[in-house]
Amino acid sequence: MLFSFFTVAFLAAGLGQTASIKPNVLLIMADDQDMLLDSLSVQPNVRKMIGENGILYEKHYCTVAWCCPSRVNLFTGRAAHNTNVTALSPPYGGWPKFLNQSLNDNYLPVWINESGIQTYYVGKFMNSYNTANFDKPHPKGWAFLVDPYTYNYFHSHWTDGYTENITPYDGIHTTNVTQQKALAYLDDAAATGEQFFMMVTPVAPHVQLANGSSPPPAPAEFRGAFADRIAPRVPNFNPEVPSIDVMVAALIQKLQEHNLLDNTYVIYTSDNGFHIGNHRLTPGKRCGYETDINIPLLIRGPNIPKNITTNITNSHTDMAPTVLNMLGLPMRPDFDGQPMAYTSVMHRESVKEIRDRLDAMGDITEYDGAEEDLSQLAALIECVIEAYY
Ligand SMILES: *[C@@H]1O[C@H](CO)[C@@H](O)[C@H](O)[C@H]1NC(C)=O
Ligand SMILES: *[C@@H]1O[C@H](CO)[C@@H](O)[C@H](O)[C@H]1NC(C)=O
Ligand SMILES: *[C@@H]1O[C@H](CO)[C@@H](O)[C@H](O)[C@H]1NC(C)=O
Ligand SMILES: *[C@@H]1O[C@H](CO)[C@@H](O)[C@H](O)[C@H]1NC(C)=O
Ligand SMILES: *[C@@H]1O[C@H](CO)[C@@H](O)[C@H](O)[C@H]1NC(C)=O
Ligand SMILES: *[C@@H]1O[C@H](CO)[C@@H](O)[C@H](O)[C@H]1NC(C)=O
Ligand SMILES: *[C@@H]1O[C@H](CO)[C@@H](O)[C@H](O)[C@H]1NC(C)=O
Repeated sequence: MLFSFFTVAFLAAGLGQTASIKPNVLLIMADDQDMLLDSLSVQPNVRKMIGENGILYEKHYCTVAWCCPSRVNLFTGRAAHNTNVTALSPPYGGWPKFLNQSLNDNYLPVWINESGIQTYYVGKFMNSYNTANFDKPHPKGWAFLVDPYTYNYFHSHWTDGYTENITPYDGIHTTNVTQQKALAYLDDAAATGEQFFMMVTPVAPHVQLANGSSPPPAPAEFRGAFADRIAPRVPNFNPEVPSIDVMVAALIQKLQEHNLLDNTYVIYTSDNGFHIGNHRLTPGKRCGYETDINIPLLIRGPNIPKNITTNITNSHTDMAPTVLNMLGLPMRPDFDGQPMAYTSVMHRESVKEIRDRLDAMGDITEYDGAEEDLSQLAALIECVIEAYY
């Protein structure tokens, strides 16, 4: 584990946005995209349009390397042991457990909506949200992919969150449907002229689950594009990450067309990382290894420094506080996280704070490795039961 001995408390609310026009937030979250296996290298649009216009966080972590608990952590700003949503399906996780914990009334889009800010959601929501329970009740706030078709790349099913309709999209790649819906929402948002929060969550590059599991099928234009990549990079360079890259470029271009780009925070991340043969594990996640927990995070927007890479450390527990801070909304008393250092001022203050703390700590050093061996053993035991979820 590369976690260092310090856990830095970054500067909280108060140093956030100061722009007079209220900024928007567009949060894009991939499914199972790693940081350490270098998938960003095949996403030039993400790197240039977001990273070179903002911050790339090299040390951003999910606190649970598993879809549903990680998403609920991100949606609530609370650690998984506090949300009590700790697995993919009932009784410990999934949409029914989310409802059972009364979280449908108490999570990010609801708080934002209650503040009078428009909210939109397009893409995969969480596990066990399906064609049978999608409207019992509707998730509050937002258009969703529904199980059991969430991971069926050319047969995705969608609900819009507000009507009784479920619409199948046969033969259209799921990332493309996501892109079309997100672009339409951006048009809607621009037409209202009001402040908005939009979350776009393609299911890519998750494996396809449709009558069994298989590698995610590529849109036609990317088929065979990475045939020359070799292990350990092979599945990681699957053609799904580029499909998200195309979508990101389209979203940014749309923001620009509506003259909204300068006033919108665009955040790019993933729900968890991935390993492929690392530690002799078959492809998957769920472990405490860096491959599984260290995930991409790139942010651009008002008052954000351009083209810097930072190693200040954040986790998904900090995402909800960060989004509220960007929108100019107050923190929640039950948050386990706090706003990340995203503006130039916050970033400078954080770096200074880290330096000051390091100076104050003197000669305390990192673990000598003994504990790491133990945690690796525990992770290995967990991981031999790895599944493709
Ligand atoms: C957490 O979930 C478990 C399993 O469903 C349940 O038994 C327990 O009462 C829950 N705890 C809290 C504090 O909600
Ligand atoms: C959650 O589940 C428990 C145990 O099944 C049940 O007693 C409780 O009423 C449920 N709570 C909600 C809010 O659905
Ligand atoms: C809040 O959500 C409701 C639906 O739950 C919707 O009718 C309303 O327009 C939303 N308000 C804002 C400001 O987004
Ligand atoms: C979706 O399809 C349109 C039209 O064919 C294309 O221009 C776009 O690049 C596609 N987007 C993705 C993400 O595949
Ligand atoms: C399984 O395959 C059948 C036949 O192609 C299809 O109708 C069905 O929707 C698929 N099921 C899922 C969950 O994708
Ligand atoms: C961002 O920084 C990199 C490396 O420092 C440099 O090569 C690149 O040209 C910069 N991009 C912009 C848009 O300034
Ligand atoms: C973080 O980056 C700074 C500046 O580049 C460097 O001095 C420091 O050693 C790095 N810290 C860690 C924990 O990698």
